[in-house]
Amino acid sequence: MLNHIVNRFIDRQGWLELVADFLQGVVDGAYKLLGKPGRDLKTLANGTWLGHPLHPVLTDIPIGAWTIAVLFDLSYLVERSHGWVSAADVTIFIGLLGAIGAAVTGYTDWSDTFGRERRVGISHGLLNTLVILLYLISFLLRVTGGSRGLAILLAYAGYLVVISAAFLGGDLVFSIGTGVNHHAWQEVPTKFTRVMLEGRLTDNMLVKAMAGDTPILIYKKGNTVCAISETCSHAGGPLSEGEVDGNIVQCPWHGSRFEICSGLVKGGPATISQVRYETRIQNGQIEVRRSEDTLQPN
Ligand code: FES
Repeated sequence: MLNHIVNRFIDRQGWLELVADFLQGVVDGAYKLLGKPGRDLKTLANGTWLGHPLHPVLTDIPIGAWTIAVLFDLSYLVERSHGWVSAADVTIFIGLLGAIGAAVTGYTDWSDTFGRERRVGISHGLLNTLVILLYLISFLLRVTGGSRGLAILLAYAGYLVVISAAFLGGDLVFSIGTGVNHHAWQEVPTKFTRVMLEGRLTDNMLVKAMAGDTPILIYKKGNTVCAISETCSHAGGPLSEGEVDGNIVQCPWHGSRFEICSGLVKGGPATISQVRYETRIQNGQIEVRRSEDTLQPN
């Protein structure tokens, strides 16, 4: 119910589209400006090396640190002991460091979204940017001998906003499915299943075939026939419409790169590899089954 009210409110904020256009241009532009190192940096921020988006890992740091800081500040207000002051200041600083990492990775992931997820994502991002500002001012007041009362008030306001922003972050994943592995619910044939006639294959061409309801990407090079999931694990893009460069296929939607024969993810924003299939040819038909050594977790 609360989720419904919040989403209707966000849908009515037309100005968010303008902000989103601008910020997506800034994030994309910054990575593109750096060329190949920028692409590697973006993949690093996506968490491809981790096999899992990096952003939700980092968000635990500020939320955890600032939750403890709420208690330290409260203890100071009750006891007026200087020990609580130092403890709160250190935890707020640790939270700020984690929040900056979470902001960089979060805006990076968000830059590859569109539609409703982009709108909810920018609301989540802007709220968290406000949180960082509140905590930054609170921290500066603390270390420069400013009003401790105001510093605590700002930190408490920041904490309320970060909890609201976390609600939207949860909504992005659990309601909209942002960052969720797009193979998670796909039926994967575990027994050899016919997918297409061998004669339809041409060397170096990406072909989409079906194993029941599951789309499979078939690729032939010389005597080798490779098969991996056709649906990109990142957001469901059609890999058969992508481009091949050496042994890499690039998704047409956001540019994730996968090894065409192993399914291994080599470049973000995808963080999860494609399902790899074994292939065989029987009576002129190509058959596939899920490989034992596939790198896909499902
Ligand atoms: S759907 Fe996003 S990179 Fe493939």
